[in-house]
Amino acid sequence: MDIPDRCEALRGARVVLGVSGGIAAYKAVEVCRRLMDAGAHVSPVLTRGATRFIAPLTFSALASEPARTTLYDGPEPIPHTRLGQDADLVVVAPATARLLGSYAAGISSDLLTATLIATRAPVLVCPAMHTEMWEHPSVVENLAVLRRRGVHVLDPEAGRLAGGDAGKGRLASPAAIVEAATAILGSKLSLLGVRALVTAGGTREPLDPVRFIGNRSSGKQGHAIADELARRGAHVVLITTTDRQGPPGAEVVRVGTASEMERAVLAHRDCSDVVVMAAAVADFRPKVAAATKIKKGDGVPDIVLEATPDILAALGATPVAGQLLVGFAAETAGSREALLGAARSKLAAKHVDLVVANDVAAPGVGFSHDTNEVIIVGADGSSTDVPLTSKTAVAGAVVDAITARLSPPPHTSKELT
Ligand code: PMT
Repeated sequence: MDIPDRCEALRGARVVLGVSGGIAAYKAVEVCRRLMDAGAHVSPVLTRGATRFIAPLTFSALASEPARTTLYDGPEPIPHTRLGQDADLVVVAPATARLLGSYAAGISSDLLTATLIATRAPVLVCPAMHTEMWEHPSVVENLAVLRRRGVHVLDPEAGRLAGGDAGKGRLASPAAIVEAATAILGSKLSLLGVRALVTAGGTREPLDPVRFIGNRSSGKQGHAIADELARRGAHVVLITTTDRQGPPGAEVVRVGTASEMERAVLAHRDCSDVVVMAAAVADFRPKVAAATKIKKGDGVPDIVLEATPDILAALGATPVAGQLLVGFAAETAGSREALLGAARSKLAAKHVDLVVANDVAAPGVGFSHDTNEVIIVGADGSSTDVPLTSKTAVAGAVVDAITARLSPPPHTSKELT
């Protein structure tokens, strides 16, 4: 089995690459290319000053997303919060004295500083400036403030500077920047060595070769959980009914019906430390699927339904030692209390460790939306409310709950920087 190691920390990681206005901005192009080569999803953000040294188009051509240069005028109304919330890491290379000063003082004067202030992801700043500026007490103090707040600083090197000068202040090499980024993300791989099985999407139960009974599941929530588990270093087997891409490095099994999903789950469950059943598995299927298309001219057919296998209940009834079992509950409850009650009943009935309950009748919640609102209910009596937010953020909360309950606890790797 292919277990990701620290070197793979960048694969699938969402990296905001901030570029501020210094002569070293051209080296950020190489940083961008190396991050992309390592499998990161790179979103470049250039300050106005940076665009005087290097064209946004260069980054747009190389990165995962077009380069952004402004808080305004783009298609997104609030790009900094989206970028900040989604990021696994923000790298600023080069970071000028102005950029460091604004960041330390909490002044969001442009998209990059706004993103830095909005994000909760780790931040790596790579200063580059003339030696006199590097040694100026204001820069020294600003960096001390940032370091105290947990910002990673990759010091500049000594060497040739712009204008024929020499001294300390030269941007660290692109290789060193990417290595530092890898080390920071590597230290976040809290699920390294953990094997996770995730299901996603809605099953389709055929009536005949062209028709089926299905549901509105898009697979977004299940895929987001698989992505998050993989991002934290877990080896993921993703069983999905959709044609969405799985996380980098994951083993993806495509299925259609509840029976196919059951077979795939049973084939993989024994070697999994955690199983997350996020799929919307049909509860009923036609007892007989017609071999040929049912003809309209033959009249309205009598369709007899039968129960599908309850995969989660079967897993709960035959527990694997040390395995964490996570189910979902899609309810039309109408109130938090009713949702919590339904989740607790499901938790007990299916013998699972965690149930992620969503009231799929509420606006923006559940099937097909990009957002979700859940209560994560534990067999230990705990309940955690996750208010309406992106499915990525919900996945983060679910994976936090999983991480806290894995037995033995996943190891935490040592900080390298
Ligand atoms: O895919 P999206 O568009 O992003 O939507 C997300 C979602 C609404 C599908 C997701 O958040 C969700 O709620 N998934 C579970 C849907 C569901 O089938 O819920 P349920 O309450 O009917 O089932 C309870 C649990 O039993 C689920 O973990 C389900 O996977 C499992 N189950 C159900 C029936 C069955 N025959 N076998 C099962 O294993």
